Amino acid sequence: MTHILSAVAWPYANGPRHIGHVAGFGVPSDVFSRHMRMAGHDVLMVSGTDEHGTPILVQAEQEGVSPQELADRYNRVIVEDLTSLGLTYDLFTRTTTRNHYAVVQEMFRTVHKNGYMVEKTTMGAISPSTGRTLPDRFIEGTCPICGYDGARGDQCDNCGNQLDPIDLKNPRSRINGETPKFVESNHFFLDLPAFVDALGDWLRSRDGWRPNVLNFSLSLLDDVRPRAMTRDIDWGIPVPLPGWEDNPTKRLYVWFDAVIGYLSASIEWARRTGDPDAWRAWWTQENARSLYFMGKDNITFHSQIWPAELLAYDGKGSRGGSPGQYGSLQLPTEVVSSEFLNVEGQKFSSSRGVVIYVRDMLSRYQPDAFRYYVAAAGPENQDVDFTWESFLRRTNDELVAGWGNLVNRTASMVHKNFGQIPTPGELADVDRRVLESTRAAFGTVGGLIETNRQRAAIAEAMRVVADVNRYVSETEPWKLKTDPERLGTVLHTVTQAVSDCNTLLAPFLPHSAQAVHETLGGTGTFAPQPRIEEVTDLDDPSREYPVITGDYAFPAWESRPVTPGTPVAKPTPVFTKLDDSIVEEELERLREKV
Ligand code: MF3
Ligand code: ZN
Repeated sequence: MTHILSAVAWPYANGPRHIGHVAGFGVPSDVFSRHMRMAGHDVLMVSGTDEHGTPILVQAEQEGVSPQELADRYNRVIVEDLTSLGLTYDLFTRTTTRNHYAVVQEMFRTVHKNGYMVEKTTMGAISPSTGRTLPDRFIEGTCPICGYDGARGDQCDNCGNQLDPIDLKNPRSRINGETPKFVESNHFFLDLPAFVDALGDWLRSRDGWRPNVLNFSLSLLDDVRPRAMTRDIDWGIPVPLPGWEDNPTKRLYVWFDAVIGYLSASIEWARRTGDPDAWRAWWTQENARSLYFMGKDNITFHSQIWPAELLAYDGKGSRGGSPGQYGSLQLPTEVVSSEFLNVEGQKFSSSRGVVIYVRDMLSRYQPDAFRYYVAAAGPENQDVDFTWESFLRRTNDELVAGWGNLVNRTASMVHKNFGQIPTPGELADVDRRVLESTRAAFGTVGGLIETNRQRAAIAEAMRVVADVNRYVSETEPWKLKTDPERLGTVLHTVTQAVSDCNTLLAPFLPHSAQAVHETLGGTGTFAPQPRIEEVTDLDDPSREYPVITGDYAFPAWESRPVTPGTPVAKPTPVFTKLDDSIVEEELERLREKV
């Protein structure tokens, strides 16, 4: 049994999230966490909404509310959506809690004390017409490294390199096209070059990372420069140093604070359980493991900036130093990054109306139909295209016809012939073989999930489902009316096999796993679900906010013998078959938004 931190990327609270977002960080992290808990590990799954920085400010301005009001609004929407998807966070919080502010400021102070926050005068962009600072990502121009013309001031999406706005050729404001003016401004830079050796050692000792994630992370070390960790902006966490603290227009960079959320959320979770040191088991024990789940646009921040912040806090850069009050903190065991989900051949874009929001998906389709699609066909190793046609096919041909139908005919036959799970007679070879197949799958499917090969894992589970379907066709229980003993043996066997398949599928399909459990006469919670709780900020009694949490008692990752005599009622179908017409309807909805 290991302590496993399941660290899930923090969605920006600047709007509702779309299915591309949750295909990247949400479903994979939950499948992994559910499985690891079933396998007996101590999982701590944390995240929250990312509420600082320009994305929030800009949207607040557009909606005519304060940044905090905006964050409050979308924090709630996101909390509801992620809960409906069944994501089993131990704590899903936010970056505007007092606890988060305190943890971030402790990190900054120690990194600064260790000598890795270097103050420098830089040229910051302002808008000549308004005199206001122009945030990095609102400046566009030609990338100095690859020559791509649509590079942003903070990053080039073509070559993936981190940029500073002043490096761009032909810089222009994305707000009104004017050429920004650059003026002097003081900022703190994280001295990344001091960590190149330590980061290289760490990356080269990683095992089992997806090759594209590891190679990209290693390539980042070829050109490492200090990066500004403060901004000229009035929305963010104050810089905890004399002369800076009270300056209303200097704040910590949103990415400096957001990644610290993994630690602050773990601390908040521990404080809320009444054992304020409980987080340490996941952060300071050497044999603890931490896996970080995200989309590929987040890799730099998790395989370079965040580990560098941790090393700087621990005093493990080229200039030494010593850890602050939290002690020496573990670097990520693995950065698990997905590629992108596109939609009907296009990139997601809320502004261009190319978008399917999580809420819309869940208002019309079963959460497990979507979770199945992501697990079976999601962007695990390459970009993939979500099409409504493929969603319809996966749902109807695989989920409904393969799995749902097996559950339904099994429960119907048991109900009609016995009204309860029958007692088996002596098993024949064919019975033994199908049970061997389902039992062996605990090792294979579990192993694949542990190594984050979820597409292969669910394919393997569905292959076993097909084995069980074949068993039913071969044994033809409907022809065994005159041989009740053999009929009882076959129906007992198939019930056992379905129960095993249900356990194997539970990390992927928790909502239906509970329904299947009950269809087979089971009681109590089989697949736990998260809940929303309204809490008071631990350090500010005047603030309340919703969190996602849960009391998760997971069944073990093993075959559980079904009990003869358990009543089985007439089943109702677990999955809804979709009508072909949904494809045209959904394509029409997409066209309307454009
Ligand atoms: N808000 C960022 C995004 O949506 C992700 C932040 S992950 C964190 O791209 F760890 F930094 F918080
Ligand atoms: Zn570039």
